[in-house]
Amino acid sequence: MKKHLLLLSDSDCSRFRSDRLKENSNMSEEKMKTFTLKEIAEHSNSDSAWVLINDGVYDVTKFLDEHPGGPETLLDWAGKEATEAFEDVAHSVDARTLMENYKIGELSEEDQKEKPKANGSSSWCVLQ
Ligand code: HEM
Repeated sequence: MKKHLLLLSDSDCSRFRSDRLKENSNMSEEKMKTFTLKEIAEHSNSDSAWVLINDGVYDVTKFLDEHPGGPETLLDWAGKEATEAFEDVAHSVDARTLMENYKIGELSEEDQKEKPKANGSSSWCVLQ
């Protein structure tokens, strides 16, 4: 399978990823779930652990024990905005491909507007 690596702004990256996810799963725009920061914050322990990365919501509950960085590192960020922590570790292309398996939706548009955006930051995007 051919992989493309692009360096994009956070918002473009997030949009690209979601488009791909929709294409791959035949999900329509309407079916892509959105969650508020409040809803995400309710999933902050090992019974249910969600992380918010580049406006994507990831349910990592089943991945906790498999995470090479350890379950605690993920649990520290469960229920929270984890983009910076995730990017600081410089996760590999494989990690970025793997994370799409855990994507359950996106941050609600309302909260995307409210959220301060990191200025000039960029992320790696893996498109397959
Ligand atoms: C869906 C979310 C995540 C996935 C799929 C994921 C996956 C991975 C993978 C596959 C690795 C092995 C190294 C690599 O391939 O890059 C790794 C390492 C690591 N991850 Fe994550 N990760 C996620 C979120 C996070 C978050 C939010 C943090 C917060 C700090 C984090 C911290 C780390 C650390 C500290 C390592 C170890 C790096 C090292 O020892 O070199 N990860 N992760």
